[in-house]
Amino acid sequence: MVEWSASERSAIANVWGKINVDEIGPQALARVLIVYPWTQRYFGAFGNLSSAAAIQGNPKVAQHGKTVLNALEKAVKNMDDIKGTYSQLSQLHCEKLNVDPDNFRLLADCLTIVIATKFGPAFNPAVQATWQKLLSVVVSALTSRYF
Ligand code: HEM
Repeated sequence: MVEWSASERSAIANVWGKINVDEIGPQALARVLIVYPWTQRYFGAFGNLSSAAAIQGNPKVAQHGKTVLNALEKAVKNMDDIKGTYSQLSQLHCEKLNVDPDNFRLLADCLTIVIATKFGPAFNPAVQATWQKLLSVVVSALTSRYF
């Protein structure tokens, strides 16, 4: 079981409180699709992904980016049982969507970069360390039903 100190809980709540899901979600998913183009294979039904501009202007990418960040909120709200919170989502990505679990980390890293760009100096190394701890637990939870 992952332990969270009071200061870690407050750092996560603080970061999450400043995140606009409708802005950061689309940017993070678009960044994954642009930086790691093989991830596009999972989104064949999303229409035009032929260039960075097409991806950034694709309404289905934007909508799904919001979906992903709304799912992340469940981790923020259930920090003491992230594994249980994502059990079904892990099973879905494994058995139905057949997503290679290595891609979870890529999305987590892109999300961190988008947040760092947006927040600037407020996203200092200590805050980043705590934020990445959260994302590591999320990635591990999403991978848990693969084995
Ligand atoms: C933090 C990591 C992630 C979270 C929290 C997440 C969350 C979600 C959620 C909530 C859904 C909707 C599930 C439903 O309809 O019941 C979904 C669908 C999906 N996810 Fe993920 N996901 C993550 C990472 C990824 C990655 C890295 C990929 C592939 C590179 C991916 C591919 C997909 C696909 C293809 C769908 C179905 C989209 C559709 O056709 O509408 N996910 N994800």
